[in-house]
Amino acid sequence: MAAEHSNEHFKLENLFSVKGKVALVTGGGSGIGLMATQALAKNGAKVYITGRTEEKLDRVAELYNKNVTGEIIPLSADITKKEHIQQLAKELESREKYLSILINNAGVSSATQNTEAESPEELRKALFEDPSSNMEEWDKTYRTNVVQCFFTTTALLPLLQKGTDAEKGWSSTVINISSISGIIKASQHHFAYNASKAATIHLTKMLAHEIVSSGLRIRVNNIAPGVFPSEMTAGESDEKQKSFIPKEKYEKVPARRPGKDEDMASTVLFAAANQYLNGQTIVVDGGYVLSTGTI
Ligand SMILES: NC(=O)c1ccc[n+]([C@@H]2O[C@H](COP(=O)([O-])OP(=O)(O)OC[C@H]3O[C@@H](n4cnc5c(N)ncnc54)[C@H](OP(=O)(O)O)[C@@H]3O)[C@@H](O)[C@H]2O)c1
Repeated sequence: MAAEHSNEHFKLENLFSVKGKVALVTGGGSGIGLMATQALAKNGAKVYITGRTEEKLDRVAELYNKNVTGEIIPLSADITKKEHIQQLAKELESREKYLSILINNAGVSSATQNTEAESPEELRKALFEDPSSNMEEWDKTYRTNVVQCFFTTTALLPLLQKGTDAEKGWSSTVINISSISGIIKASQHHFAYNASKAATIHLTKMLAHEIVSSGLRIRVNNIAPGVFPSEMTAGESDEKQKSFIPKEKYEKVPARRPGKDEDMASTVLFAAANQYLNGQTIVVDGGYVLSTGTI
């Protein structure tokens, strides 16, 4: 191969192409899921988005389908319900020959408790006796943040493998959205959330391992974001389904700001397109973990 021809491989559009790919993004109606959806649709992928709130998904499709070479298609579902996931898989199987990219992004935060205490009684009061600290809260958080990644991935394995079979040089990919909360030692006042995100990271590795061991060619990785504006972190979103958090609130993060849409978009494209990445955690956090410390 002529040297100048080999240079072609290094073009951005060849390295990070998602053109013609079919994707599903859970929780694609806001925050990080919407960033991922835009990144994929703008670059030519057909992106199904799911969530519980139909209006949110419809608004995203209406607003962000303009000026993209791909497409955004809303399909509402509650991913904490196995029958909804099954229905979603059936619907995708009836519409598409394959699925190339699955982003398990839907997630919820958990109630917060004080961890600043000067006696065992005080710490017990905050972490055990406080009404917000209850088993149902742990169940809800784990069910959404961890269990959905397992069931959505396993329900869609045949369609994902077809995505691999459809194109030489492409292996379909699952990207779980975990969090730096599953890596750092601090509880950030929400033990349930942080424990669920650590479980998401471990689940990613187990799924990647078992899928490879079964002879399938589907890559499974996770992205562990630091702080990004979303309904979860800002408490709301505007008429464009976008959220805002002030820069000043995150001065202690080495990057001295929250993450931007582009920071997440480039990470998603990297995780989706890099064919040599499997079973890994990609931390995109402006240095948050560096300053907080890991376990
Ligand atoms: N933003 C951050 O700083 C940050 C940092 C690290 C990790 N993360 C993770 O990133 C992911 C996205 O969160 P986000 O921050 O972007 O918050 P967000 O704006 O609240 O997005 C979460 C999305 O998930 C959907 N969702 C929640 N429960 C669902 C369910 N049972 N079924 C279907 N969809 C459901 C929500 O839509 P409906 O309510 O309409 O269903 C919502 O659109 C989460 O896994 C979160 O833990 C976020």
